[in-house]
This record gives sequence, C-alpha cells and structure tokens, in this order.
Amino acid sequence: MKLSEVKTPVYVIDEKKLRKNCEILADVQKRSGAKILLAQKAYSVYQTYPLIAKYLSGCTASGIFEAKLAHEEFITPEGERRENHVYEPAFKDDEMAEICNICDHVVFNSLRQLEHHRPVWGPKAAAGQLSVGIRINPEFSTDDAHEIYDPCASGSRLGIRKVNLPDKLPEGVEGIHFHNLCEQDFEPLFDTFKKVEKDFASYFPEKEHLYSEGEVPAGNQLKWINLGGGHHITRDDYDREGLIELVKYIKSTYGLEVYLEPGEAIALYAGYLVTTVMDIVETDRKPVLILDTSASCHMPDVIEMPYVPPLKDAEDPGELPYTYRLSSRTCLAGDIIGDYSFEKEKKIGDRLYFEDMAIYSMVKNNTFNGMPLPDIAIMHDKSDVELIREFGYNDFKMRL
Ligand SMILES: Cc1ncc(COP(=O)(O)O)c(C=O)c1O
Repeated sequence: MKLSEVKTPVYVIDEKKLRKNCEILADVQKRSGAKILLAQKAYSVYQTYPLIAKYLSGCTASGIFEAKLAHEEFITPEGERRENHVYEPAFKDDEMAEICNICDHVVFNSLRQLEHHRPVWGPKAAAGQLSVGIRINPEFSTDDAHEIYDPCASGSRLGIRKVNLPDKLPEGVEGIHFHNLCEQDFEPLFDTFKKVEKDFASYFPEKEHLYSEGEVPAGNQLKWINLGGGHHITRDDYDREGLIELVKYIKSTYGLEVYLEPGEAIALYAGYLVTTVMDIVETDRKPVLILDTSASCHMPDVIEMPYVPPLKDAEDPGELPYTYRLSSRTCLAGDIIGDYSFEKEKKIGDRLYFEDMAIYSMVKNNTFNGMPLPDIAIMHDKSDVELIREFGYNDFKMRL
C-alpha cells in the first residue's frame, strides 16, 4: 500500500528513520561502553522491537505491563533476549514475584519499598538472578525544565533525596538510578552527574577496590549507574562526543556499568500521524480545519506540554498565503493542535502529515467522545506501507 492510500487517522512508523536512530545509538554504545535501553513509556510499538533489539541492550519498563511486553517481544530476529529493567514509584505485592521473574534489574523508589519487597527480591538477588537499585533524587533541576516534567521540582515523589539516605548503600543494592532531564542536550547531564558524584560520593566504589578480586566492603558494592532518560542523543546537534567521554570517565574511574534509558531518542522523528480535512469552519478569527484526528485524544502532549507539532509542507501562521487553525471533531473547545500556514488553499479531503508522532502518542491516546483510535502502520524501507493494527468500536467499548 502507498502512504497516500492508507485510511486516516493513522500513525505511520518510519522504519528507515527508526533504524537510523538505532544505528546512532549503537555507535554511542560501541564507542562509550554504555548500555542503552529503550524506555517503553515513550514508544511501545512492539512489532518493531525485533529491529530495535538488534541494536540496543534492552528495555526499561514503568510497571509490570511494559515489563511483560519487553519480556515477550524484545527479542532479536535470531532469538536473542536483551536486558529487562523496571522502575515504578511503588510495586504491588501481587506483581512483585512476576516482576522478579521476568526482569533482571529492579529499581525501587523508596527505602520502605526496598525493604517491604526484600523477601521477594532478596533470594533472587543473592542467587545472582536479579540486580536491585534505588532511584535517587539528585535535586538538580535544569534551567528549561517544565514543572510537570521535572522530577527534581520541590515536593517531588520521584527518587530518594540524599538527606533520606544512609551513608552506605543498603545491603543488596547494586545500582543507583536518576532521571531529571527532558529533551535535553549533553550539558545538563554532565552537570547532573557532577552533582551526583559529589553528593553521593560514599556510594561510588573506592579506587583501591576497583579491579581487585578481594572482598568489597559493605556499602561500597555499587556495580551500575543508570543515568535515566531525556537525552536527545539522536538529534543532529546533540553533543554525542561529550556523552561518550562522560561514560568512559565513569567506567574507567569507578568500574561501573553505565545505563542510559532514553525513550524519545529512539523514535525521534520516526513517525507521522496522517489525518484528513473533514470540514472548514469560518470563525470571527481564522478559518478552522476540522480534522479526523484530535490533540486531546491522539497527541495529548500537544495540550499537556504544550507544543505545536511539526506539520509537513506547512509554516508558522502568516508565513505562507493561507493560514488556518487545525482542530478536531471532539466537543472540547480547546482541542486545538495549532495554527499553520500553507502555500495552497486547503480543501475538504486533503491529507495532512503531522511529524514526530511516534513518541508519547500511541502510548498515551484515549477514546474521549468515542473518538476512534488511529490505526497503526509501518512504512518499510522502500516506502511501502503495512497496516499492523486497526481499531474500531470494540476498542472503545472494551475499556468501559
Ligand atoms: C524514569 C524515566 N526513564 C526514562 C524516561 C524516558 O525519557 P525520554 O523519553 O524523555 O527520553 C522517563 C520519562 O519520563 C522516565 O521517567
């Protein structure tokens, strides 16, 4: 099928772009020694996991469902499994045993959770089947942090602050994890790491124990550090050389395994949301295109963040001859995608292509107003499009 023939609304994954992002990440892994994980919260089109698994070291999950998805699907075409990490602010008692069976790294958000679940994870960790970490809060907000995306904002529940931690790592804990970035370049990561290295210095292995075979003193058993997500590594202007140097520094100074768990960077600019103009409504301001997609239902970050998504062949309002407001067929007055201008007047039936729609879209969409969910398709390397998922009335009804 050609892209122009697919029924709308539809999310289309651009396989070529996805592969290119993976190649960049694989190169960073190779040259730095870091292990890069896919944060499934941003992108979970599991039908493409075999492709991604060829390049990355594993997945990270926000809970048992994502962990199960990775366990079932993140397998290379040759049948090789990858690492499966999970972090959640609180784990349910009835999920913990399964989590410890299907994951190899579990990260706890509080010392209470760590101790509460110790009877389940403890024996697995002692048997070397599981590595346990704690999420620390580096208390380092970057300059351009949006408050709702800032885990270090005052009052945050995400990660344990230094003041609430003992000087030495709790027994059995082998890793520390932090996450404080969102769509950032390398510098904020560098600044965060420097703060973590200083504030949590007592957790980092002492140099004399680095390469020794002898006993590691209790509380100094750190084996890995996870630098979280929010790194826009695949963006053209990202300072990848800086990142590679930092990872090499951590590995050579402390002998730690270094994990990065970006979500966006894996599928950045690797998908479109294709929509059709259904009506054109004149208003006391600019004309509004009614589309068969919705910001509120199909791209909620547009409203949550907020941002105006890139649209193919369109410019900012007023730059080209025809300016419109793009909106949806829901009842929500504020369900507005943005204002754009076009070279030609728009007509009913025209198709529009929102770009960068693979991330935080399908994983967040909903059926408010009974809006149909967009289908999902993959555009393969030679531009042929394969429909992989069609949604209908039952997908709306079954959630109620
Ligand atoms: C703990 C954690 N890891 C990784 C990520 C992925 O971040 P991004 O998609 O911005 O790279 C997030 C995003 O919220 C997160 O909370």
